[in-house]
Parts: sequence; C-alpha cells; structure tokens
Amino acid sequence: MEAKAIQDYAELFHGADDDILHDVVQVTRASLQYDDMLSGPVVAGLLRFLIHASTARRVLELGMFTGYGTLAMALALPEDGMVITCENNLKYINLAKPLFQKSGVNHKINIQYGEALDTLGRLDPWFDLVFIDADKENYLNYYEKCLPLLKKGGIFIADNAWLGGKVMDSGDRKGREVHKLNKAIQDNENLVNVMLPVRDGIHIAVKK
Ligand SMILES: C[S@@+](CC[C@H](N)C(=O)[O-])C[C@H]1O[C@@H](n2cnc3c(N)ncnc32)[C@H](O)[C@@H]1O
Repeated sequence: MEAKAIQDYAELFHGADDDILHDVVQVTRASLQYDDMLSGPVVAGLLRFLIHASTARRVLELGMFTGYGTLAMALALPEDGMVITCENNLKYINLAKPLFQKSGVNHKINIQYGEALDTLGRLDPWFDLVFIDADKENYLNYYEKCLPLLKKGGIFIADNAWLGGKVMDSGDRKGREVHKLNKAIQDNENLVNVMLPVRDGIHIAVKK
C-alpha cells in the first residue's frame, strides 16, 4: 500500500472530527489559499488522546496558526483546563479568534501574541503537556526553555520531527536544527521518548 493511501486510511480513525475543526479548515483555505501548516486530524487526535490519557489541565502550544490544534486540545481539556498558545502573526490570530468564540471553549484558550521565545521567558511553571510546532530554526531553543516548565510526568511533543526527510540532510539548516532536537531528546536521561510515524513525524517524550 502506498504511504498516501495508508495516511488516508489512518485519517478515518482519529476521534477529532468536531464541526468547529472543519470550520477551521474551511476558513483557513478560503482566507489564505494555503492550509499546509494545519496540524490535521491525526496529529490533533493524538494530542487529544494524550490530554485524556494524562489528565492534563495546563497545556502550552508554540505555533498556533489558525487554531486547529489549539481547539482540538481545548475541546479535550476539562472545564478548568487552559491552553496557552503562542503566535507571532496577527493575521492568523485574527482568523482564529472568531472560530474560538464560536467553539464554546474560548474560555480555555489564552493567546500569547509575539515571539514564542519571549513569551516562554514570561511563563510560570508547570505545564502538563507542551506541543511545539513553531519555527523549526528554534526547535532546540524551545526544548531548552520548555523542559524546565514541564512538570514531572509531563509530556513533550514536537511536530515535524522528520521535516519531510530533511532531518537526514546535513546541508539543510532547518533539518539540522530539528535533528539536533531529536538527538537532544534521545540523549536526555530524564526523558522517556519515542518517535511516531504520524504524518511528518512526531517526537514524543515524558519527563521522568
Ligand atoms: C505549523 S504552524 C502551527 C500549526 C498549528 N499548531 C496547528 O495545529 O494547526 C506554525 C505557526 O508558528 C508560527 N510561528 C513561527 N515562528 C514563530 C515564532 N517565532 N513565535 C511565535 N509563533 C511563530 C507561524 O506563524 C505559524 O502560524
């Protein structure tokens, strides 16, 4: 079976099929004419699964885009849960805000506008789950700043852990940075990690 056919099959089984997530896709396509940055139903399904399995309450997302992953996580969180999400592009924030207001879970979403690294310097511990999905050049910096904010037993997730295969190309700057992150996670004795073949690769780790 071809990889694309397997991917299409997997997309049938993800438990993240709310109308509001379809709305995010439609608004993104109609407004931007590109949707390739959306995390999509399988990654969102995994985030949701992890929130339920770990009974997470306080979640951090780096790279919100139009809010697909943010909403999937907010929907999975308990009523007193919170997703703090970082985004440096106002255009995306302005597209996401009406969708959040319509979602019924806006009260569980806190948008931090600005450079994610600056925001990270202002955040208090502890987070139950951190999902990094912003600029790949900073992946290692994000990891270093996020780990101290993650509680013991907390889950660290990096999207695009393969970067379309560029992680194996030492001549590609972004690929090199994501590879450095993958290596740092692997070498950290305080983490238990596994790389999942989900979409563009998900590197997931739990803090011992
Ligand atoms: C791949 S998209 C995020 C997708 C989103 N997590 C989802 O589930 O659909 C990456 C986002 O990170 C944002 N971003 C890139 N660099 C950033 C930075 N330095 N600080 C904050 N956000 C950044 C981009 O504007 C973009 O919206």
